[in-house]
Amino acid sequence: MKLWGGRFSKSTDALVDDFNSSIRFDARMYAQDIKGSMAHANMLGKQGIIDKSDSELIVKTLSEILKEIEDGRIEFEIDAEDIHMNIEKILISKIGDVGKRLHTGRSRNDQVALDIRMYLRDECDNLSAMLKNLQKTILTLAENNIDTIMPGYTHLQKAQPITLAHHVMAYFEMFKRDTQRLTDCRKRINVMPLGSGALAGTTYNLDREFVCEQLGFDSITQNSLDGVSDRDFVCELAFCLSMIMMHLSRFSEEIILWSSHEFSFIELDDAFSTGSSIMPQKKNPDVAELARGKTGRVYGSLMGLLTVMKGLPLAYNKDMQEDKEQIFDALDTVKMCLPVFSNMLATMNVKKESMLKGAKGGFTNATDVADYLVKKGLPFRDAHAVVGKMVAYCIEKDTVIDALSLDEFKEFSSIFEDDIYTAISLDTCVNQRKLTGGPAKETMQKIITKYKGELQ
Ligand code: ARG
Repeated sequence: MKLWGGRFSKSTDALVDDFNSSIRFDARMYAQDIKGSMAHANMLGKQGIIDKSDSELIVKTLSEILKEIEDGRIEFEIDAEDIHMNIEKILISKIGDVGKRLHTGRSRNDQVALDIRMYLRDECDNLSAMLKNLQKTILTLAENNIDTIMPGYTHLQKAQPITLAHHVMAYFEMFKRDTQRLTDCRKRINVMPLGSGALAGTTYNLDREFVCEQLGFDSITQNSLDGVSDRDFVCELAFCLSMIMMHLSRFSEEIILWSSHEFSFIELDDAFSTGSSIMPQKKNPDVAELARGKTGRVYGSLMGLLTVMKGLPLAYNKDMQEDKEQIFDALDTVKMCLPVFSNMLATMNVKKESMLKGAKGGFTNATDVADYLVKKGLPFRDAHAVVGKMVAYCIEKDTVIDALSLDEFKEFSSIFEDDIYTAISLDTCVNQRKLTGGPAKETMQKIITKYKGELQ
């Protein structure tokens, strides 16, 4: 019989049992469920709501159940519906009537809210650790490529020379913000809902603060209706995950481009590439492609969650059981992507010569030619026009600006002197851009050192 079967005269249809059941996907919250129940039982005993000896037996048995689950000695039942009732049923099978006292002053509605909060806060910590590893990989890559000049792009057209260090450190900033976002999201996750009951709280003299402290929460929920029906934090986490994926996906796109024959900026390690079943020459960047592709499913989870919640009246509705597969899938996906992506970066071979060659073409120093004229007194708009003409001339002649003779320079403006050549060398273009945020070696060194310290 169901734990809630008292008012029913028929057993549940087998299809409904299967349809209703969430044990297939909420079983992963077993440890949170048990720890939450232990804290609840301790509190019931402390408050004299149940006998101290009963609460002690419940806690002891729950810890045995936890061990049995961890040892793989327990099989959950579909018709016990979810992880909460499975564990309660096992408890009752072991200690009978004493076990039946555990659910005093509690509803599955506040219980599931508690469990998912505990589960997700741990996952925030796991994700932060993974992001930290990725950030470390990026820092090492940056350190090794502080002098690796490459073209920077806008519109995927060559724009100005930068370094690979500068480029990858842009991603460091993104993952840094992702970490901050997770830390912030965790604050809203870490609020303790037990005591909300089914929706209207309870008449028992529960000590909510005690449970809060025992379970390591920062505070308790302030409205019982909201306590059981709030899934904002799940949506918020799904957004944080989506943002991480968006960043991974942009980075992946560049890895894919860079490893193409046309760019040849990098070569992925064999261990992080795959071949083709028909074309013997192929070496494909599948890891990056999959990370890019999996972004879609994480966005899907975010949309799914927001849509599940959008029409729900207060308070708990069974629709909310749909939160778990979405957020778990999003979490699993991101947790799978982060380490493999990080290792792919760590092992890839940077083709510094190709990057340099890329920076030499496409007139990436044209802005610096204009700036040269400006520094010698020409208004910027006039300088821009002069250099525009020079570029057109070079395209016509199939050459680059730095290959022009001083006489040719002077045909465009008498201001040019022979210091123009150093002024527009790639080294100058990169290393004179030393404002905070710029690609200059000394600027990059400073920020890398700073972030290395922060990650310690
Ligand atoms: N399995 C349910 C969920 O995930 C637990 C809460 C069920 N509450 C209820 N009143 N049926 O949301």
